[in-house]
Amino acid sequence: MSLSQQSNASEKGGRIALPCVTESPLTPKGTCLESVKIAIDAGYRHIDGAFVYYNEHEVGQAIREKIAEGRIKREDIFYCGKLWNTCHPPELVRPTLEKTLKILQLDYVDLYIIELPMAFKPGEAIYPKDENGKFIYHETDLCATWEAMEACKDAGLAKSIGVSNFNRRQLEMILNKPGLKYKPVSNQVECHPYFTQPKLLEFCRQHDIVIVGYSPLGTSRDETWVNVSSPPLLKDPVLNAIGKKYNKTAAQVALRFSIQRGVVVIPKSFNPQRIRENFQIFDFSLTEKEMKEIEALNKNEES
Ligand code: A2P
Repeated sequence: MSLSQQSNASEKGGRIALPCVTESPLTPKGTCLESVKIAIDAGYRHIDGAFVYYNEHEVGQAIREKIAEGRIKREDIFYCGKLWNTCHPPELVRPTLEKTLKILQLDYVDLYIIELPMAFKPGEAIYPKDENGKFIYHETDLCATWEAMEACKDAGLAKSIGVSNFNRRQLEMILNKPGLKYKPVSNQVECHPYFTQPKLLEFCRQHDIVIVGYSPLGTSRDETWVNVSSPPLLKDPVLNAIGKKYNKTAAQVALRFSIQRGVVVIPKSFNPQRIRENFQIFDFSLTEKEMKEIEALNKNEES
């Protein structure tokens, strides 16, 4: 899939160097468009996106088509966009969000989050690397970036602002910032039965920060950061046995577990059947004993 149209909208040659996407490595053109439309028809309203997913133009098109069909209104949709690592300098924050809005062809995002607490060197390269193939990191002042995020909310470009992949110390930096105007409303982190994040969840609860759990079915097991010798979550005997009782899949049990503990789930699927399956979790509930059994599966390990 090519994002060349959107790349033309970047500030090439201007004073501000924003990341520039020229090709998507992952999904065939149109896959995301169709998946988002199927999801909206199935009842999904929260769409988790990012500039670096290379498909925000298709997400925006799907939302606009569904609005045009009369199926939804813009205010029914909750779109989350993300500030990429190369865009932490405060002067880049608003132009980066404006670029996302231009790609989406929407007037605002419902939530805008700092995708990672660490930064890469600003510029057109999304993953800047040195001659040895090593990432070029960049110093970041998260409090200054946060103030620029606050300004985006004040300008009406983002209804709410939050963070992602922040640990307690990084959250505290923001929460304790002198003159803080808005607290992060959410922290998006990996969260599922093998990685339940009990301490972070408790800290966030105390500060009214919602945990949004990514990879709620376990990750797609990239061996560069996941211990692939640990078995896949969805093969877990406990999840499968509980699923059998309710005539549900292990995936549905894992999702139900998260929502029952107050964790927002954002299961990703490009498969129509699994998109629908992942939404069928509101017609059963897990007992306290089952919740405890699943909680005990925690390995404190990304998997
Ligand atoms: P697919 O898109 O083929 O459905 P991530 O870690 O990036 O969130 O990826 C989630 C992975 O889980 C994807 O590979 C997705 O594949 C797969 N998946 C999504 N829903 C289900 C489900 N209900 N059962 C099994 N696998 C699923």
